Amino acid sequence: MLTGLKAVALLATLSALSTSVVADQFTRFPGCPDKACILPPTSAEMLLGAKFDVRVEIHEEAKAPGGVAGKPNPNFEISIAKVHLNDDGKVIQESKPVPLEQYLRLEPAPLESWNFTYFQDAAHFWKGQGGAVENADHTHNGGVSSASTPVNVVSKVWRRASFRHSGDFKVTVKYNNGEKTEALWKVRKSQFKKRIAKNAIFFIGDGMTTPMISAARVISRKNVNGKYQKWMQMDRMEEMGHVIPCGLDALITDSANSASAYNTGHKSSVNGLGVYADTSDDPFDDPKQELLAELLRRREKKQGGPAAIGVVTTAEVQDATPAAVVSHTRRRGTKAEITDFFIHGVKNFSVPVRPDVLLGGGGSYFLPGKSLNKTNYYDIFRKEGGYNVVHSKTDLLKHNNKDPLLGIFHKGNMDVWLDRNVYKDNLKGKKSSPLGDGSDALDQPNLVDMTITALNTLKKRGGNGGFFAMIEAASIDKMMHPLDFHRGLADLLELDNAVKAALEWVKKNDPDTLVVVTADHGHGFDVYGTVDTEFFNAAPDNDESGTQIEKRGAIGIYETAGWPGYKDEDGDGFPDNWTPRVTLAAGTVNFPNYHETFQLNTTRVKNPAILDKGTHSHKPAYDSYIANPDEAEGALHRTGNLPVSESQGVHSLQDVPVFASGPGAHLFGRVMDNTEIFFNFAEALGLGQDQ
Ligand SMILES: *[C@@H]1O[C@H](CO)[C@@H](O)[C@H](O)[C@H]1NC(C)=O
Ligand SMILES: *[C@@H]1O[C@H](CO)[C@@H](O)[C@H](O)[C@H]1NC(C)=O
Ligand SMILES: *[C@@H]1O[C@H](CO)[C@@H](O)[C@H](O)[C@H]1NC(C)=O
Ligand SMILES: *[C@@H]1O[C@H](CO)[C@@H](O)[C@H](O)[C@H]1NC(C)=O
Ligand SMILES: [Zn+2]
Repeated sequence: MLTGLKAVALLATLSALSTSVVADQFTRFPGCPDKACILPPTSAEMLLGAKFDVRVEIHEEAKAPGGVAGKPNPNFEISIAKVHLNDDGKVIQESKPVPLEQYLRLEPAPLESWNFTYFQDAAHFWKGQGGAVENADHTHNGGVSSASTPVNVVSKVWRRASFRHSGDFKVTVKYNNGEKTEALWKVRKSQFKKRIAKNAIFFIGDGMTTPMISAARVISRKNVNGKYQKWMQMDRMEEMGHVIPCGLDALITDSANSASAYNTGHKSSVNGLGVYADTSDDPFDDPKQELLAELLRRREKKQGGPAAIGVVTTAEVQDATPAAVVSHTRRRGTKAEITDFFIHGVKNFSVPVRPDVLLGGGGSYFLPGKSLNKTNYYDIFRKEGGYNVVHSKTDLLKHNNKDPLLGIFHKGNMDVWLDRNVYKDNLKGKKSSPLGDGSDALDQPNLVDMTITALNTLKKRGGNGGFFAMIEAASIDKMMHPLDFHRGLADLLELDNAVKAALEWVKKNDPDTLVVVTADHGHGFDVYGTVDTEFFNAAPDNDESGTQIEKRGAIGIYETAGWPGYKDEDGDGFPDNWTPRVTLAAGTVNFPNYHETFQLNTTRVKNPAILDKGTHSHKPAYDSYIANPDEAEGALHRTGNLPVSESQGVHSLQDVPVFASGPGAHLFGRVMDNTEIFFNFAEALGLGQDQ
C-alpha cells in the first residue's frame, strides 16, 4: 500500500551535464532537470540490442499554485552524438550530433499534448488532501485545486528503439528557440563471448533484510554458548553482496519500482513496471524498456535459443514482483491487464513472455467480475496456451512436468506459512477459493512444493535454451507491513527451505544453474533483546507514571536477554513452538500508533491501526489512523512516527543482501546498484553480445 508523503531521490546523477540537483521532497517530474524531460533520463544504461522507447516532454507550468499554466512550444528537436567520457564521467570528446530518428532508424512520432498538476511541497500536498489519500501521488492529471500547480505538456514518443553499438551517447533536446536539455546514456555489451550459465533461479524475499535473517536464525537454529550449531541455507551460499534499492523517484522504493530495475536494468518510479513513468494519464503509454524474460524469449539460436520462463509467488501473481517479469504499466494496480499480459503479452513492444509456469494467488483477476473484458482467464489459458490449470497442492503435485502449468491457489494473496501449516483453522470460513465459489482454500501448496514442480517443468520445457525462474516469498513484506514479525519470519524460513530444496535439485538435475537470492527493499526491523511474556502479561496495563515501567521491565537486554525459547527439535527448519515464554524483543523504525505484545496472535494477522472514524479530537480532513483498540489489552502503547495517513509500517532505506551460487555467482559478490542485477543475469544467460 502506498499512500501519503513520498521522499524523492537526490538526483545527483552523472552531473557532468546538469548542475541542478533536486533537493526537494516534491519535484515536478523526477529525472527532469528543467523544462524539457528526456526518458530514459541521464545516467540510464541499456543493454546492447535491447528495445526501449524514448519520450521527450516539454513543460510550461503555472507561476504559482492554482495559477494558469503557459503554453509549451511544440517545436523541439532531438539529436544524439557518440561521446567519450573521462573517469569522472565528463564528456571529453564528442562526434557530430545526428537526429535521433535518423541514428536509431525510427519513424517520425506524432505530437501529443496533455496537462497535469503537482504539489510543490508538503504544505501544499497536505492542504490538497480533502478526502482519502489512498494512492495519492504527488502528481495528478486533470483536477486543479488551489494547492496544486498545473503544467501543460507537449510530447513525442518513439517506440522500439535499440542500439547496434555499445558506448556512451549524449542526447540533446533543443526547444524554446535556444534552450537545451541533455542526457547521457550508456549502452553496455556483454564482457563475455559466451553465456556462463544454462539456467538461472532468482529468489526474491520481498522486504527481506539482514536483521530479519539474523532473527530467523535465532528462532530456528540451535545455539550453544554463542555458537550456532546449524546454518541457514542462505548463510552457506558461495557469494554475498549488497544491493542498493533506490528508485528514480524514490529514496526508498516500492516492490514495483525495484522489481522493474531487476527486470530491465533501468530505474523506474513507485508503482511503475517495465516503464519510465511519464506525466500522462494513460498507464500503458509510458516509455517501455525490454524485460529480461522478453530478451530470453527472443534470444537467438547462436546464444542457445529461447529459454523457458517460470514465475512463482506466494502473493497474487499480479502483484508487483511477479508482474514485473512480464509487464509494462505505469500502475502496478492494473491487475486485470497484468493477467492478460501473462497470456497475450504486451502489445506492440517485444515478444509475449507467456511463462511456461505461473504459480501463486490472484484468482479474482482470472474470473469475470474483476477480469479484463468479463472473461474467464482460466479458460483462455487452457484454450489458447494449452495450460494445465490447477488449484490445489494435490493437483499441483500431479502435474506431468511437460505441459505449461498455471497454478492459482487463492483468490487473493496466498495465506502465510504459519496459517497454512500450523494454525490451519485460520483458513476456514475465509471463502478464499481461487474459483470464486465461496469455498475455502484449504489445500494450498508450500513454496517448496511450488519451487520443485516449477523446476521440473522448466527443465523439460527449456531444453537447450535452459530456463529462468523468478520465485518470490512475498509475505515477508506483507507481514512486516502490519508489524506481524512472527508471520514474516516464518515466511523467511519458508524461503530458506525453498532455496535449500532448489540447490539440492540443481546438484542432482543440472549443475549448470545460477542461483541468486535477494530482496527488493527492506523494512527497518531489528531485534534488541528478549521478552519474558509471563512477566510482561502479568504487569499492569498502565501505572501512575504512564510509561508502563513494569511491562518494559520484562524486556531483557545484553546479558539479561538470555535466549528465547524457540526450538526446532524435528529439524524441519522451523521452530516447533511459536508461543514460548521468552520471545524476541523486536521492532521496526517506523510505525503508526499501535500496541505491541511481542507475541504471536495465533488466530489472525496483526492489525496495528484502524481508520479514525471521527472520534479523535484532532482528526484532520484526510483519512487518518489510530491504534487498534482490539489489540490494546496487556500491550505496550507506542506512539507513531509516520504521517497519520499510514495504517502500517513502510519500507526503509537499507541495502539488502544478495547471495549467489553456481556459474556466474562471482558477479554478485560486491556492493551494487539494483539495476546491476539485470546486467548480471543478462551476462550470465548470454544476452547483449555484439551483433
Ligand atoms: C487539461 O486538459 C483537459 C483536456 O485534456 C482540459 O479539459 C483542461 O481544461 C485542461 N486543464 C488546464 C488547466 O489546462
Ligand atoms: C500496434 O501497432 C499497430 C500497427 O502499428 C497499430 O495499428 C495498433 O494500434 C497498435 N496497438 C497498440 C495497442 O498500440
Ligand atoms: C472481449 O471479448 C470479446 C468476446 O470474447 C472479444 O471479441 C474481444 O476481442 C475482447 N476484447 C479484448 C480487449 O480482449
Ligand atoms: C488476537 O486476535 C483476536 C481475534 O481477532 C483478538 O480478539 C485479540 O484481541 C488479538 N490479541 C491480541 C493480543 O492482539
Ligand atoms: Zn511492501
